[in-house]
Amino acid sequence: MLRNDDQLAQWDRENFFHSSTHLAQHARGETPTRIISTASGVHIEDRDGTKLLDAFAGLYCVNAGYGRTEVADAISEQAHKLAYYHSYVGHGTEASITLAKMIMDRAPDHMSKVYFGLSGSDANETNIKLIWYYNNILGRPKKKKIISRWRGYHGSGLMTGSLTGLSLFHNKFDLPLSNVIHTSAPYYYRREDRAQTEEQFSAQCAAELEALIAVEGADTIAAFIGEPVLGTGGLVPPPAGYWAAIQEVLNRHDILLVADEVVTGFGRLGSMFGSDHYNMKPDFISIAKGLTSAYAPLSGSIISDRVWKVLEQGTDENGPIGHGWTYSAHPICAAAGVANLKLIDDLDLIANAKDVGAYLNKTMKEALGDHANVGDVRGEGLICAVEYVEDKANTTLFDPSRKIGPMVSAAMLERGVIARAMPQGDITGFAPPFCITRAEVDTVVGVTVEAVKSVLG
Ligand SMILES: Cc1ncc(COP(=O)(O)O)c(C=O)c1O
Repeated sequence: MLRNDDQLAQWDRENFFHSSTHLAQHARGETPTRIISTASGVHIEDRDGTKLLDAFAGLYCVNAGYGRTEVADAISEQAHKLAYYHSYVGHGTEASITLAKMIMDRAPDHMSKVYFGLSGSDANETNIKLIWYYNNILGRPKKKKIISRWRGYHGSGLMTGSLTGLSLFHNKFDLPLSNVIHTSAPYYYRREDRAQTEEQFSAQCAAELEALIAVEGADTIAAFIGEPVLGTGGLVPPPAGYWAAIQEVLNRHDILLVADEVVTGFGRLGSMFGSDHYNMKPDFISIAKGLTSAYAPLSGSIISDRVWKVLEQGTDENGPIGHGWTYSAHPICAAAGVANLKLIDDLDLIANAKDVGAYLNKTMKEALGDHANVGDVRGEGLICAVEYVEDKANTTLFDPSRKIGPMVSAAMLERGVIARAMPQGDITGFAPPFCITRAEVDTVVGVTVEAVKSVLG
């Protein structure tokens, strides 16, 4: 049982504004405060001693697993040696320069430099700002609109919340801002024409993009942003041929591609980057979560050679770039990144993500694929999703007010496993730390089956 009546819980209700939370219910004490105290490997423990298997790695970010002393020690050493120095006007630290080198060694060959931020949202803000700068330097002041996908997730700032294609992040916030337009999600399971092959559906997505560009005018569109695998919008891998078809359209209209790899960067798909995995050739790659495995907040915008050349030209013409944050390339966060990427290499964790991810997806499909209310079990690498439907033959959704997805996650929590109820649709999401074992996957799948049966029979 969670305690909800002691001083810490009271302080929490009185003072703390939580993300993505029903604020009124929480302030009234109607929802419990779960206070996490310790963690190790794939397990977290709350202050009451309840141990939970975290099958979503926090917010799919603790990729190396919890309790890594190598990363904690690197943070401590850096804090003692040099807690801070900025990165303005050519300053750096040993940690930030080393990390930049490690990132660029891992990034696709055509990428040139990395700019550091603190969150996935700010990495995408940086990308959009640089894209506008790029087109101004090239003398194309009209070419500024950004195309994003419905169900895409790119953050919750003003611009990034606009790029995000989920109504929860727009409603009552006066978003999306102008200059952002959305195209359809590559959600094969939810296609209207059930007879379509994946390739045909991908061609349809590309044709829709082409039509949108024709309506808006290619001379007004600067970039297209997408996650290699749709994340928060439902954990949806792209249908076969999708990225090739989309890139062909973008290239023809001289539209830049931003690969938002905040989730997929550094191994979650079993490849270093989703861009490698799907043969994408982006102009920007957004990175965050897996860069430090969330041991410290750090993000990055990786910039291609062709964009970098124009940025250099811009500063030759206009002077220093007007972009910078106090905490960009913070040395403590950079030290965490260096230790984390080294650990991922040393323990061969990306190979484990690939191997155990395939096992997770296979066993989940075998265990639940035939259930009358499970419409789809899908995934890639160490991402897996189970989607529930009222009527399997017609893929009819449950009435959202029944909250089937949240109920399954709650039933799993009671049984000691954390899986995420994805915010749109009845979908249970799995994205555990890369160090998860097959035996731990068996526990996750077993608990999912029990929870699904308890909610849906
Ligand atoms: C693909 C993607 N981009 C951007 C973000 C935003 O990152 P942050 O929450 O660190 O701002 C997220 C967060 O989940 C994400 O999944």
